[in-house]
Amino acid sequence: MLFKGKSNPNIDEEQIKLVENAQKRVKQKKRLFYHFSIMLFGIAVLLITNILFGIKNDIKPFNYPWSYWISIFWFLILVAHIYNVYITSRFMGKEWEKEEVKKLVLKQELEISKIKIEVEKEARIKAESQLFNQNNRKNLITIIAAASENNVIGKNNKLIWYLSDDLKHFKNQTKGHSVIMGRKTFESMPKALPNRTNIIITRKTDYMVKDAIVVNSLNQALEKAADDNQPFIIGGGEIYKLAIKIADRIELTRVHTGIEGDTYFPEIDHNLWEEVSREKRLKDEKHDYDFSFIRYNKK
Ligand SMILES: NC(=O)c1ccc[n+]([C@@H]2O[C@H](COP(=O)([O-])OP(=O)(O)OC[C@H]3O[C@@H](n4cnc5c(N)ncnc54)[C@H](OP(=O)(O)O)[C@@H]3O)[C@@H](O)[C@H]2O)c1
Repeated sequence: MLFKGKSNPNIDEEQIKLVENAQKRVKQKKRLFYHFSIMLFGIAVLLITNILFGIKNDIKPFNYPWSYWISIFWFLILVAHIYNVYITSRFMGKEWEKEEVKKLVLKQELEISKIKIEVEKEARIKAESQLFNQNNRKNLITIIAAASENNVIGKNNKLIWYLSDDLKHFKNQTKGHSVIMGRKTFESMPKALPNRTNIIITRKTDYMVKDAIVVNSLNQALEKAADDNQPFIIGGGEIYKLAIKIADRIELTRVHTGIEGDTYFPEIDHNLWEEVSREKRLKDEKHDYDFSFIRYNKK
């Protein structure tokens, strides 16, 4: 037969099984047909023999010839055979059904184990990030920003004031530390900030910059800065919004003016943040506006 013995590499196991089962069914039906033909022939021979030789051993009390009884018995056997072929072994048979159920169960088990792996992976990532946040209590994650009274921090990807002492303050605070920033803030600067570990957050996977580490999330950025006792988040608006949820300190230069812009510092919730120091400076030729250095610690 076509698939007996060898398996054809172009046909998968399931197809071979189907063909084998079909072949089995054909055999079963052929055997039934032979049975039927032999029975017809046999009954004819019996009846003729009975008529020709007229053997008088008819079974009482019904007075029917013996050939009649044999024919009926044979016919009943044929009915049983038909029942077996079309009812008991219908379709592919019980064995085939069992195998299909087994396959289905295996498939389901495979799916369940895949889902389990996914769930475990997610739980592990969540646990790691929680652990990471707890561990970073040792590190003082600090946001440093300059914002107007109406929380504006920038316009057209540029800073909107010149405050000499604020630049010095920024330099002194962040020197030797990691500075974490969004891709847009980085691109608003002429180059990476010297004497600091520059970490840029972007969703781009092919973003590469000389003298800076590129990551794809704030968490990754903080992981890169894990050895720094005070990593700084230096902007801009999008990154401040993410970082304010996990930061421990805000070094805010409040610029005492209302100004127009397109990028904002998030509202500071005074239920969560405590002002611990404030130092006011006045406007002069090196400073466009009055401003205050304010430190907030997470309560
Ligand atoms: N006054 C201040 O203290 C101060 C400080 C810094 C900046 N600024 C000002 O702020 C402005 C820039 O701020 P901005 O809000 O427009 O941009 P930004 O926060 O500097 O950077 C935004 C970019 O960060 C990446 N990013 C944001 N969320 C992310 C996430 N969850 N996962 C991965 N990547 C993410 C995206 O980069 P991709 O698009 O590459 O994916 C996004 O376009 C400028 O005007 C700048 O001058 C002001």
